[in-house]
Amino acid sequence: MGSLWRSIAHVYFIIAFISSSALAEDPYKFFTWNITYGTIWPLGVPQQGILINGQFPGPDIDSTTNDNIIINVFNNLNQKFLLSWSGIQQRRNSWQDGVFGTNCPIPPGKNFTYKFQVKDQIGTYFYFPSMYYHKAAGGFGGLKVVSRPLIPVPFPAPDGDVTLLIGDWYKRNHTILRRTLDLGKSLGAPDAVLINGRGPNGYALTVEQGKTYRLRISNVGLSSSLNFRIEGHKMKLVEVEGSHTVQNIYDSLDIHVGQSYSVLVTADQPPQDYYLVASTRFTSPILTGYGVFRYSNSQKAVSGSIPGGPTIQVDWSLNQARSIRWNLTASAARPNPQGSYHYGNITITRTLKLASSSAIINGKQRYAMNGVSFQRPDTPLKLADYYNIGGVFAVGGIPDSPDGRSAYLQTAVIDGDYRAFIEIVFQNYEDTIQSWHLDGYSFFVAGMDGGEWTQSSRASYNLFDAVSRCTTQVYPKSWTAVLLTLDNAGMWNLRSETWERQYLGQQTYLRVKSPVKSLRDEYDIPLNALLCDAARGRSRTPQP
Ligand SMILES: *[C@@H]1O[C@H](CO)[C@@H](O)[C@H](O)[C@H]1NC(C)=O
Ligand SMILES: *[C@@H]1O[C@H](CO)[C@@H](O)[C@H](O)[C@H]1NC(C)=O
Ligand SMILES: *[C@@H]1O[C@H](CO)[C@@H](O)[C@H](O)[C@H]1NC(C)=O
Ligand SMILES: *[C@@H]1O[C@H](CO)[C@@H](O)[C@H](O)[C@H]1NC(C)=O
Ligand SMILES: *[C@@H]1O[C@H](CO)[C@@H](O)[C@H](O)[C@H]1NC(C)=O
Repeated sequence: MGSLWRSIAHVYFIIAFISSSALAEDPYKFFTWNITYGTIWPLGVPQQGILINGQFPGPDIDSTTNDNIIINVFNNLNQKFLLSWSGIQQRRNSWQDGVFGTNCPIPPGKNFTYKFQVKDQIGTYFYFPSMYYHKAAGGFGGLKVVSRPLIPVPFPAPDGDVTLLIGDWYKRNHTILRRTLDLGKSLGAPDAVLINGRGPNGYALTVEQGKTYRLRISNVGLSSSLNFRIEGHKMKLVEVEGSHTVQNIYDSLDIHVGQSYSVLVTADQPPQDYYLVASTRFTSPILTGYGVFRYSNSQKAVSGSIPGGPTIQVDWSLNQARSIRWNLTASAARPNPQGSYHYGNITITRTLKLASSSAIINGKQRYAMNGVSFQRPDTPLKLADYYNIGGVFAVGGIPDSPDGRSAYLQTAVIDGDYRAFIEIVFQNYEDTIQSWHLDGYSFFVAGMDGGEWTQSSRASYNLFDAVSRCTTQVYPKSWTAVLLTLDNAGMWNLRSETWERQYLGQQTYLRVKSPVKSLRDEYDIPLNALLCDAARGRSRTPQP
């Protein structure tokens, strides 16, 4: 009886919710951003940084599920510029994704207004400059989407909500880094790890004793996996890139490039200063970035050595990754439980097994997937597709599994069937850790393990409570398998988050096209879309 009543109440709640959301227009949030160069000193030496409204890192975007975000970006650099929104799904709207396959870059001295909705999303994300090597100079910031007031969140409201952007950093400026790569050379190891744009001992987070804080930690760096920890404090994991997790307690967390985590930390220790640390994993030597976790009534400064991270490498990290699971009964952006989406029951219709490789092509260092090293087009693929401009990209150039071909350059796009449920296996034959990201989607991280993936590897998948996220690590000489439904039409960047690798060809685009041309499936080209190269001068009014 009680349970029947609860179901009825639940259904009534959903109906009430849907009808109210259909009546009210979703709120708008407006931003005007001025992108400039400016001098920054994260490591005590002056560097040319990329600032947003004078800030490094850039301002946070605080939004609520379904908000419409309008950002007018003025590019005052002397180079073309684009911003992309990592983890924001841009439903039906790859026009706003801000990567060179979807958008013409904003010319120097010009502006472009991004307009997108954080539709049906919650969680912790970040934005970053996607062109050239701008990410090495700044231009990134936090982006969070909080739940609407009626949607239950599976933990008490924290006393504070803090964005922590951690990432590796070079002293060389982005122009030098890019030139080095263009010459076909490797960048070598970064120089330091920054926390919110500050070098060692540069950042302090002041907390009040007895209070609980939500820390939203994103690895916005270029190549290093980082271990994050706070001396003397435990972290309760609550959210990963939009998924509410089983609330495990951790002493430290491995956060790979491009990933975001939310943890709750209670200031429940004697009042003093504690080290807040982000140090590189799987590298020798280890680079350590640190700041201070400071009680407002602190009696003592930090002292002694900085607490070290885990000493066991892959096994520790892999075990931790497997312990991160979906809370099946928690709500995400909608009132129904996350776990009501039984991804483990859906039949896989296609498997893409993508093997990464490093190759010398035309005497230069390049990186490839299944033998294809992506060549950057001048005309955005999305525009070429929309206007039927031939010769910009090739569909089907990347085989569904590695076939031993030697690497070559191509602007190759993968075609995906609209609404198909697919499996992507990232196969890493190399001995470095990798991180992979897909725009427009989140995927279930069903499994990861050492060695070569085969069909029998599926027996080890978590088909029950794997987290859904947008960026996954792939351990050295290992594989990671993800599952997803291709229900978001558009042109979506699939890339290595190791920035040197994506810059040198380890990326592609997944084209998901609805068989019918309908605004229900995909929005039309925005009226303010920038048109460049072969798309220059075309009409922005809807195509027949
Ligand atoms: C952007 O900042 C630059 C440098 O401070 C300034 O010259 C310019 O007027 C600003 N532009 C806008 C649109 O605010
Ligand atoms: C550039 O900014 C102006 C307002 O200053 C705005 O009217 C215009 O639409 C913007 N251009 C684009 C392409 O978004
Ligand atoms: C980048 O660094 C190089 C070498 O230190 C320097 O010559 C150049 O002026 C710098 N570029 C900018 C735009 O700061
Ligand atoms: C899962 O979420 C529910 C709310 O639906 C919460 O009560 C519960 O504590 C969470 N479980 C775990 C293991 O984190
Ligand atoms: C498949 O769905 C049923 C309910 O329809 C559920 O009991 C079962 O656990 C699901 N299996 C998986 C692997 O999700």
